[in-house]
Amino acid sequence: MKNPAPEITEKELNELIQSAKDVLQANWSGSFTRPSKNQYPHQWSWDSVFIAFGYTHYDKDRAEQELRHLFEGQWKNGMIPQIIFDQEHQSEKYFPGPDFWQSETSPNAPDHIKTSGICQPPIHATGVRHLIEYAPDRERAVAFASEIFPRLKAWHQYLDRERDPNNEGLVYIRHPWESGQDNSPIWDGILNRIEIEPSYIPAYSRKDINNVEPDERPSKPEYDTYVYLVNFFRERKYDEAKIRNDDCPFLVQDVLFNTLLCKANQDLAEIAEIIGENPEPFKTRADQIADKMNDKLWLDREQMYVDYDLKASKQIQARVLSGFLPIYASIPDQNRKQQIFEYLNTHCFCQMTDSCFPAPSYDRSGDDYSARTYWRGPVWINMNWLLYEGLKQYGFDDYVKQVRNSIIQLPFLSGFREYFDTNSGEGYGIENFSWTAALLLDILYREESTAIQ
Ligand code: DGY
Repeated sequence: MKNPAPEITEKELNELIQSAKDVLQANWSGSFTRPSKNQYPHQWSWDSVFIAFGYTHYDKDRAEQELRHLFEGQWKNGMIPQIIFDQEHQSEKYFPGPDFWQSETSPNAPDHIKTSGICQPPIHATGVRHLIEYAPDRERAVAFASEIFPRLKAWHQYLDRERDPNNEGLVYIRHPWESGQDNSPIWDGILNRIEIEPSYIPAYSRKDINNVEPDERPSKPEYDTYVYLVNFFRERKYDEAKIRNDDCPFLVQDVLFNTLLCKANQDLAEIAEIIGENPEPFKTRADQIADKMNDKLWLDREQMYVDYDLKASKQIQARVLSGFLPIYASIPDQNRKQQIFEYLNTHCFCQMTDSCFPAPSYDRSGDDYSARTYWRGPVWINMNWLLYEGLKQYGFDDYVKQVRNSIIQLPFLSGFREYFDTNSGEGYGIENFSWTAALLLDILYREESTAIQ
């Protein structure tokens, strides 16, 4: 791969590190870190864990505080919600805010804090495991893990009980926002299938396109469906069994969500061992998820894992980057890993011989590919981080190096943007985006060769 970015000098790298810390500082609310001040002015679940990955190395108080604050919003049934609202300060800036979600209608919602009524990918145990591994004061990190362990356990129990009611081995998501990949082409078929009477779409006014060009964000029909689904949940007071049994139109066993749950169970087993709890149930669950993913979500023809649409009882054949990410939790066997790498290393994603930044979120030859539209093609730093962590276990060294370089070079060239153009490196979405900064810091701090104070 002929990476189109310039070399970065040591001085520039040190400045970049300082700028990354400045981004996190500017987004600090006083009790958690916002993904971005204007576009995302509350606390987001998986964002906060990625953010904690960065803080771990240089500000353990913040890393712990980030996760503690998130767990304050945990529901009584164990769910960690997608958004914890900072209602006093920022509620007018974001849609849908707490008044739209009305999650307090659920008996499971927390009493003292407003949240949304869905969740996000479960990387929380992984965040705590990361803290134990990399925080300078291990003893303190272990004490923190002991404190948070019952909450992590309740979160995993919620997912197992409520999202895999038949103990099949795969959990479902019920909203594109739960995947973290809001407008991915994965959802196109389902969204086109959902017929919504216009009168069933509550009145709403988007705020996201006040800050970002509309063609870099999800479309109006996509937003209509997002809002329709929220309304569907709130009409059922967020009762999971009712939502499921009343024919919720969106029920999907998602590759990335289940991959991260598998990895989180592996990490929770390690945490349990370290703090003297029983690791076995988490190991067993991780193996069960991996087996079922290999059985149900692998698509031989495409050499990748794909989502499963529970309403249509079929695989969803979308060629997205997340279809390769089960390597992060060591789910594929050696043969499948090789197949995954061979497909990844083609023009469709970013080939060694191409001039591009790995890795686009969607196949570049796909009809619906867009270089600048949110989850329909751009490079995302969190996906690159997962890809990097996954690939480096298997020795695809040259490619791994290019993925690592993209995590550093894209912010160097274009600032700490939300997402980037695989061809030009141009940045899109919001500026000063927290996880772009935090994951760059995590990679650099973990590299022995980088001397940082
Ligand atoms: C948004 O509002 O765009 C978020 O991605 C939802 O989580």
